[in-house]
Amino acid sequence: MSEIRSSLAVIGGTGNLGHALARRWAQAGYEVVIGSRTAGKAEDAAARIETASGSVPATGLTNEDAAAKADIVIVAVPFSSQEAILTAISGELAGKLIVDTTVPLVPPKVARAQMPTAGSAALSARAILGEEARLVSAFHNVAAHKLQQDIEVDCDVLVFGDNPADRDSVVELADAAGLRGIHGGPLANSVAAEAFTSVLIGINKRYKADGAGIRITGLGGA
Ligand SMILES: NC(=O)c1ccc[n+]([C@@H]2O[C@H](COP(=O)([O-])OP(=O)(O)OC[C@H]3O[C@@H](n4cnc5c(N)ncnc54)[C@H](OP(=O)(O)O)[C@@H]3O)[C@@H](O)[C@H]2O)c1
Repeated sequence: MSEIRSSLAVIGGTGNLGHALARRWAQAGYEVVIGSRTAGKAEDAAARIETASGSVPATGLTNEDAAAKADIVIVAVPFSSQEAILTAISGELAGKLIVDTTVPLVPPKVARAQMPTAGSAALSARAILGEEARLVSAFHNVAAHKLQQDIEVDCDVLVFGDNPADRDSVVELADAAGLRGIHGGPLANSVAAEAFTSVLIGINKRYKADGAGIRITGLGGA
């Protein structure tokens, strides 16, 4: 591949969503670094990407080292760890694009929208990282177990952030993962997609669905 692509650090890339996205991005030609609280766990996860994608290389490092190494940092950790992990990597994020995937699910009532005091997980991230952080949120409504399979995933990705150019970069990442990224407006709008995840969890339960998703209609084939 001749096109130069950004390097990506996937913080929590050992987990359900992070690993599935990391594998898809590695297959699309991105240089991927898996981050974990434990370097050995990250190395194992990176090796699984190499095996699954037929020798596409990936690297595994601690979260801090992964964030230091990449141009774009994707954060895919549980809401309960969002603050601790963003704080741990915050020293490595200056000038970098940060993509937060956090949905503020509060067990056991995960089918009920429950937003944190900041208003959403994305706004919590901004409170932790500061106004100067290049923060975008996305991937809230896509089921990780669908992304883990080599199938077309029937779900759009709404992308939120205050800088349209940064949103463009994340729309591109969604497209590279085989999804359709759509601008959702400023970071303050992230609450809509985060809350809708609880709606989807309820729909899955009610209709015994295997990963309901969202589609935006009326875009005229965009
Ligand atoms: N799963 C989905 O379908 C889905 C869809 C859309 C959005 N999301 C959002 O994406 C984020 C990640 O979801 P996920 O399902 O991928 O999460 P997960 O598999 O449970 O965890 C992801 C990684 O986070 C790290 N981690 C840090 N603190 C942790 C803790 N207290 N307990 C467990 N793991 C911890 C772990 O990596 P190390 O141990 O290696 O550090 C783990 O592998 C969440 O905010 C979720 O709401 C998930």
